[in-house]
Amino acid sequence: MKNSKIFRNSKEVFQDIVDSKDYVQLDRSMAIYHALKEAIQKPLKMILVFGKPGTGKSMMLNKLYKELSPKQKVVYIQTPVIDETEFFKVLAYEIFRFNTPDSLNFTQFIEIANHYEIEVTPIVILDEAQLYSESLMEKIRLISDSRKVKFIFALHKTEKEDLIAKEHFQTRIWESQELQNATASELTLYIHKKLLRANFFDLANMFSDRSVKRIHKFTDGNYRDTNKLMYGLFEICSWYEGNDPAKIKHRTMPTKLIEMAAIHTGFIDA
Ligand SMILES: Nc1ncnc2c1ncn2[C@@H]1O[C@H](COP(=O)(O)OP(=O)(O)O)[C@@H](O)[C@H]1O
Ligand SMILES: [Mg+2]
Repeated sequence: MKNSKIFRNSKEVFQDIVDSKDYVQLDRSMAIYHALKEAIQKPLKMILVFGKPGTGKSMMLNKLYKELSPKQKVVYIQTPVIDETEFFKVLAYEIFRFNTPDSLNFTQFIEIANHYEIEVTPIVILDEAQLYSESLMEKIRLISDSRKVKFIFALHKTEKEDLIAKEHFQTRIWESQELQNATASELTLYIHKKLLRANFFDLANMFSDRSVKRIHKFTDGNYRDTNKLMYGLFEICSWYEGNDPAKIKHRTMPTKLIEMAAIHTGFIDA
């Protein structure tokens, strides 16, 4: 690779893409991941992953899906299917390979589910579950009660989450795990691991604890926001690389550039 393009190429490392092959293992999120895997083995009916946007919920579900799907029936619905009859139709097809040109209501779905005997309870992973209506959630709860399907939800931490927790599921057997923003030291690991994995060794070295603390100040350790800031930072560095390379010939990432990136990406006002 030509050295002069190092920053232009490195920004791709921080694109906001959910693909578990890029999963960075951090102690705290790995502990949650293992707890989820254990929860699946238990006779729990509902499992919930919640947290603010950008804390890695989709990433974790994606990883779970990839790991479980070779061993058992797992359906991963990334984008909510909010129309009820469409939802049951998708579910019937994905779980039982039941195909129908018509729409499918809840009662019909239950009939179909009763028709099939599956040795290991199929798992349905629903991302962005805060978007499902209360009435559909109620039916999902009933399906869980029948133990025909085990649901795993990811939910933004909103008032709705409380609602679902309180009204529908309070008396149910379920487990929940909360994902949080990274601490400054977790963020250092995150940035280093991402860059090292892409073979940007010298760049990883530029992100000292002090530089990352700066980044953490702006993004509060939110992974999505950090991606955004890092992408912007590398865009700025890439410009200097072509126009004024002395500005980026440092052992550590200059604070000034991190601040410029924070302005550029809207984390601070100019
Ligand atoms: N453990 C992780 N390893 C690698 N990247 C991560 C990890 N957690 C979060 N990310 C990054 O942060 C971004 C936001 O994560 P995401 O799972 O979409 O958050 P959420 O679903 O909670 O809004 C992802 O696009 C991904 O690039
Ligand atoms: Mg998500």
